[in-house]
Amino acid sequence: MVEFTLPANSKVTGGKRFPAAAGAGNVRGFKVYRWSPDDDENPRLDTYEIDLDDCGPMVLDALIKIKNEVDATLTFRRSCREGICGSCAMNIDGTNTLACLKPIDEVQGDVKIYPLPHLPVVKDLVPDLTNAYAQLASIEPWLKTVTPPPQRERLQDPEDQKKIDEPSACILCFCCATSCPSYWWNGDRYLGPAVLLQAYRWLADSRDEFTGERLDELEDPFRLFRCHTIMNCTKTCPKGLNPGRAIAEIKKMMVARSA
Ligand code: SF4
Ligand code: SF4
Ligand code: FES
Repeated sequence: MVEFTLPANSKVTGGKRFPAAAGAGNVRGFKVYRWSPDDDENPRLDTYEIDLDDCGPMVLDALIKIKNEVDATLTFRRSCREGICGSCAMNIDGTNTLACLKPIDEVQGDVKIYPLPHLPVVKDLVPDLTNAYAQLASIEPWLKTVTPPPQRERLQDPEDQKKIDEPSACILCFCCATSCPSYWWNGDRYLGPAVLLQAYRWLADSRDEFTGERLDELEDPFRLFRCHTIMNCTKTCPKGLNPGRAIAEIKKMMVARSA
């Protein structure tokens, strides 16, 4: 069997412990990945003990409490607290999900929290999404037409609208892409399920007039065809969407136009 040896500076070390206040009755440990670009220290796992009787029910509530009351240096993204903005995506208890939608009670024992996997880390729980957003821009995620605009809006049939309802509900949290083994190993060239779901959203839009050109852009051994239908993406989506099926639909469109 092949054995891998991690570079010394990539090993995650044991970190600091922040005990609960004396008298806390319902204590839970939160083990949180910490890394800063501002020193030469290895990443570490800090442990924060939180009294759940004095904390909201979601993992994001605990992170906000830690930042506000225990350790202001902890860095993470969040905005809406309602599962709408996609900012608080992270790996909790081994699964990519949204911290604001993840009940603490669903986790047994210590709650382990890491940044989304296989992305460069900016700081602590904040991943670098530069490549992911460049890939999103590359599929030109807006309506493209050549016919002159009508006097009023471009109308759409309700049945056609149903085809884009699901991909339009994607909040671009990238939980799916960062759970996809093909994206882990080829994220520089494979677009990954989040961006391909958006590509499908515009391919399936009956008002868009650039379907052929959009398919041309995806006809490549890496951009689309690195998907091997492993379906981790669909399993992990915190919004219950199915990017794996959307990718299969794009492949079917490719076959249909070459028949
Ligand atoms: S189906 Fe599998 S290979 Fe394809 S995008 Fe989803 S996780 Fe990745
Ligand atoms: S498909 Fe789901 S997991 Fe993927 S980016 Fe959209 S909302 Fe997030
Ligand atoms: S804070 Fe917006 S999705 Fe969690």
